[in-house]
Amino acid sequence: MVKFAIVLAVLLAVGVAAAVWLRMRAGRDTSATIPLTAKVPGKVAIVYYSQSKVQNTALVARWIQKHVGGDLIAIETEEPYPEPYFRTLATATLERRSGKKRPIKPPPALAGYDVVFLGTPIWYGTYAFPVELFLKANPLAGKTVVPFSTHGGGGAPLYERDVKAACPAAKVLPGFTARGSNQVERRLKVGVTAHHGEDDVIRWLNGIFGAETLASGGGEG
Ligand SMILES: Cc1cc2nc3c(=O)[nH]c(=O)nc-3n(C[C@H](O)[C@H](O)[C@H](O)COP(=O)(O)O)c2cc1C
Repeated sequence: MVKFAIVLAVLLAVGVAAAVWLRMRAGRDTSATIPLTAKVPGKVAIVYYSQSKVQNTALVARWIQKHVGGDLIAIETEEPYPEPYFRTLATATLERRSGKKRPIKPPPALAGYDVVFLGTPIWYGTYAFPVELFLKANPLAGKTVVPFSTHGGGGAPLYERDVKAACPAAKVLPGFTARGSNQVERRLKVGVTAHHGEDDVIRWLNGIFGAETLASGGGEG
């Protein structure tokens, strides 16, 4: 009995220490320390969906906008998904099984945009349902599509593949995925900033648009 109490106390202490550490990490300065050297060609839209209270994907969208410019456009559902996480998951799982995914508000027209960054929380390994519905309504033909996402630890194994399939007439560039929140982190309101900073986004952008800029001969400025 005493042994059990000691083990329990140790586990509790480790849990509390981990939670405190995560909160501290999430509160650190994540501002950029390296420059964006690549140039993103054309008019840019950053279209994203972000569901949880932590708003992980929205934060990455803002980081992209901070360095690239362009217009932030949020995809919204007519009825928000319920919180907390277990209710979101239960609702989404039912919708997935039935195929009846809650509608999104009419998506904005993207005529005039050349580059569309497309952000989503990863659901079941790929884009969240509202992003799936957005792409069904607007398959982004003729645009350069740049996928980004946040996940809870499982990565984004199917997202880019599914974007390519949903946007057959778009040019899809290599994407970026950030660790957002797992179930515990969502409760602690800890997200992307515990795991990433703006530098991660800048490195990715320099990688994909550095090559693009060179290929199109527009490497100056
Ligand atoms: C219905 C649902 C399914 C999810 N599926 C996955 C998954 O397959 N892999 C993963 O790593 N995280 C998964 N997550 C966690 C989210 O991707 C993660 O918390 C994300 O950062 C949330 O972003 P947001 O704050 O922009 O909504 C899922 C979350 C929900 C609600």
